[in-house]
Amino acid sequence: MATGVQAVREMLRERGAVLLAHNYQRPEVQDAADFVGDSLELSLKAAEVDARVIVFAGVDFMAEQAALLNPGRVVLHPEPSARCPMASMLTPDVVRWYRGRYPKAPFVVYVNSLAEVKALADYVVTSANAAKLVAQLDSDVVLFGPDRHLAEYVAEVTGKEVIPVPESGHCPVHVVITREELEAARREHPRARVLAHPECVREVRRAADFVGSTSQMVRSAIELGGGEFIVATEVGLIHRLRRVGVEAYPASGYAVCVEMKKVTLRSIAESLASGRGVVRVDERVAARAREAISRSLEALGVVPPWSRS
Ligand code: 13P
Ligand code: SF4
Repeated sequence: MATGVQAVREMLRERGAVLLAHNYQRPEVQDAADFVGDSLELSLKAAEVDARVIVFAGVDFMAEQAALLNPGRVVLHPEPSARCPMASMLTPDVVRWYRGRYPKAPFVVYVNSLAEVKALADYVVTSANAAKLVAQLDSDVVLFGPDRHLAEYVAEVTGKEVIPVPESGHCPVHVVITREELEAARREHPRARVLAHPECVREVRRAADFVGSTSQMVRSAIELGGGEFIVATEVGLIHRLRRVGVEAYPASGYAVCVEMKKVTLRSIAESLASGRGVVRVDERVAARAREAISRSLEALGVVPPWSRS
């Protein structure tokens, strides 16, 4: 089977499919995609595209979210074993336990969580809008999971008490980026500015010129007038930045998400040829998760594409 970028593009066309890819995907997967973006953009795009089949190049929770927002469409996850380890750190039982302990606090979950958890949440946010949504809530105490570093960042920005659920949820890729590595990268590239993802530890976030989601980092680099940037996030973003003409260097060469890299052009071609990897979400769970996602977007002033007439 031919598995180059052009061959995959041809298979997508023949099957009336679109390929959505996350900013951390392999360079060649990004190059083959119809759209490359962050978690928020990909969720909205999945609900907007006019295609029979959506092929989702990313990890489990992203493909699952695309499926639950598109009950009538086929969503293919070419590599079902590509799973975000952080998403599995928050289970429905833990959500119920914290809800019982803090009955008045709204429960906000990060998009990096499974549908069953989203179905129990009041709000679902991404790294692009977490602080903005929490700032708007009518409560000074908020439960937030599963990333304790994003919870801490949201607390810093909003001044609210943001309780991490569970206490130690984290992204294993972002926590390996150290302040020392960042300083070494700065010495090597003295003119470069620093962009960081909020999943990074506090001392890395505080050393950054800009903190935001993966696509917000790309926009910020363009708005800052280009030049050189050190990026404190997964290394896949370097390709995304170079595609828009921004010179970028990793803060740490160890920040590689092996789960994201499991998706290849070959697995995409095989999934398109065989129909392998159809994502299924229990409809009752999906309906409750959709409600929490819609409530969150509406609170942020966004009319969800699935509610537009
Ligand atoms: P973004 O929504 O910022 O793209 O982040 C997704 C993710 O998995 C970060 O590790
Ligand atoms: Fe999950 Fe971290 Fe990989 Fe993002 S980079 S998918 S949070 S493990």
